[in-house]
Amino acid sequence: MTLLRFDLLRILVLGALWALPLAAAEPSSPRKGLVATVNPVATEAGLQAFRDGGNAVDAAIACALTLGIVDGHNSGLGGGCFMTLRLADGRLITLDGREMAPAAATRDLFLRGGKADPRLSQDGALSVGIPGEFATLAHASTHHGRLPLGRLLEAAARVAETGFRVDRHYVGRLAETRPGLALFPDSEAIFLKGLPATPSAGDLLRQSDLARSYRQMATNGVAWFYRGDFARRTAEWMRAHGGLVTEADFARYEVVPREPVRGTYRGHEIVSFPPPSSGGVHVLEILNILEHFDLVAMGDGSPEFAHVVAEAMKLAFADRARWLGDPDFARVPKGLVSKEYAAGLARRIRTDRASVVASAGTPPGADREWFTRERNRHTTHFSTADTEGNWVACTASLNTSFGSKVVVPGTGILLNNHMDDFSAQPGVPNFFGLVGAEANAIEARKRPLSSMSPTLVLRDGRPILSVGAAGGPTIISQTLLAILRTIDFRKPPREALAAPRLHHQWKPDELHVERAWGQEVIDGLKRRGHTVAAEASIGSAQAVGRDARGQWSAAADPRGEGSAGVW
Ligand code: GLY
Repeated sequence: MTLLRFDLLRILVLGALWALPLAAAEPSSPRKGLVATVNPVATEAGLQAFRDGGNAVDAAIACALTLGIVDGHNSGLGGGCFMTLRLADGRLITLDGREMAPAAATRDLFLRGGKADPRLSQDGALSVGIPGEFATLAHASTHHGRLPLGRLLEAAARVAETGFRVDRHYVGRLAETRPGLALFPDSEAIFLKGLPATPSAGDLLRQSDLARSYRQMATNGVAWFYRGDFARRTAEWMRAHGGLVTEADFARYEVVPREPVRGTYRGHEIVSFPPPSSGGVHVLEILNILEHFDLVAMGDGSPEFAHVVAEAMKLAFADRARWLGDPDFARVPKGLVSKEYAAGLARRIRTDRASVVASAGTPPGADREWFTRERNRHTTHFSTADTEGNWVACTASLNTSFGSKVVVPGTGILLNNHMDDFSAQPGVPNFFGLVGAEANAIEARKRPLSSMSPTLVLRDGRPILSVGAAGGPTIISQTLLAILRTIDFRKPPREALAAPRLHHQWKPDELHVERAWGQEVIDGLKRRGHTVAAEASIGSAQAVGRDARGQWSAAADPRGEGSAGVW
């Protein structure tokens, strides 16, 4: 069993543990707005922000803060996020709250005896990057929100204090990470001793330290986190446990507003997240390739459709491994999202046979035009929108389940392990089996490459979809498929998310498909030469949409236990 196979199977099988309640807000005309998240408590927090007079940005912040409690194995203030916004005045904004490597990080940080040691990049002190989620939420609140951030923090603190009922998904993640959590006293006290020894869905989990931290932030804002008590406590813990993160690293952290990646697909505008996410670039690259194929004539659910989508993914993921990294450090060619480049890639796809993609392509302008910083079943995605015209797509993450497993003593805040998203050594796969190159090598203060793809789709200048997903590299595939189902097959969010998924990430050469495609499609793909791995379930996506008649709807992934709501 290859490393990738093992890790992808973990993502896919975890998906299968989720229940199947259909979690969609049917077409309606909201008074104020819509919310879709992976957890009903978080969805309710977003709706409450609307009831309290907030807009879609406030609702998204309320969701993020609450998810950090009720879905804390996936995301939280000790992690990072990417937020894509379309404001009521038409502005399109992307906020980069990705973690940053500490200043003392060096290229060979995770090599021991010349070999990458995944234990170092996935658990404990060295796996932690400087968290960016709280800086991003505070920035969004100050510039684009309406409700005081302190009020949203206080509401979330009450959830942490009174507790919430863990779901089956939470229990599964806990069982999986129990040995890692047991290594760190605060993590053990909160997540293991705070629940019965053999927890079941429905057990109550209270997080009083976390509630206190949320209240500190409500009173003292980002200063407490980045220049105050939290930074000091984290740095002290790091010093005692061989970590590199310092108070100076916290003080230097900044949320980076970036230019969104923008392109078109069959007359629609696609607005997504630029590097250091690979998500927006590759969703767009694949859409550009697929524009050369008549997907509607092939039919959703046909082997022809599944085959050409997989072939396009393979080409794009080869480019990801070669070209993508933090644009403040690596030269990521803008030509990756050009129509001209996609036309050349599309010509390489045969409809009757799987191709062998030996290496990445060379996009036009690779030597002169790069993405730059413009100065002027891990992870979670949630979407909100309001009737004023504000739309938010936000993906947040600690990386793998419970991140580094480290809770900073006395704070209840769990730290990420996003240092594992760097490429520890060229060609050596990370947790998700992804290989990378120089562009994503570790450097001081660099941000690790991500697949998170919070994306907005517009028609005639009006948003029609906010979508994104969780699940490592499958995020790109899930987001792409949701867009194809929306634009080509005119499905509302509920159906677009329910339709079967597939994922190919170039290396290894395996096509992962959900069994729901059916045996005929699986056989058709095998006949074309694909090595097919059939799985119960891939990932978790959430979406909010508005159709051509102006009807709104929202959907949480039917594979999960999330919910969507309207107020
Ligand atoms: N940790 C998953 C990602 O950022 O792609």
